[in-house]
Amino acid sequence: MSGTRDTLIGAARECCGRAYAPYSGIHVGAAVRAASGAVYRGNNVENAAYPLGNCAETSAIAAGVQAEGAAFRIAEIAVWATDRDDRTLASSPCGGCRQRIREFAADGAVAIHFPWREGRIETVALDDLLPFAFFLPAGPQGR
Ligand code: THU
Repeated sequence: MSGTRDTLIGAARECCGRAYAPYSGIHVGAAVRAASGAVYRGNNVENAAYPLGNCAETSAIAAGVQAEGAAFRIAEIAVWATDRDDRTLASSPCGGCRQRIREFAADGAVAIHFPWREGRIETVALDDLLPFAFFLPAGPQGR
């Protein structure tokens, strides 16, 4: 494993311990390394009105924007999830979070690290998780 990957995975794991997930029991942590070099973390925050819950990736992105504003760019991200018995779960980002990551990704090669089947940790490029992502022509990612 590379050093930055280990560090990010460690941060996501540590953060997932503080998730607020009394309904699903699925604790998720995300750690983003920004292009600036700073690391931002987030965890899932559920709500009694279920659709109001936030994913961990969403919280980490909000922390990055809060700190760096519109200049915030994601260079690399790790996601980690555990169940009520602290077992590691396969935890690739959901479809909505893929689009949220794309909004701030430095480019489509951004590496996303997450545990997958049989405890393997996968590293997948954003463009492979979300090919043909949606962009607005006039937006910062437009072409
Ligand atoms: N969840 C995340 O935090 N990130 C994802 O990419 C997928 C799902 C959270 C939402 C909810 O609190 C719990 O996992 C179960 O769906």
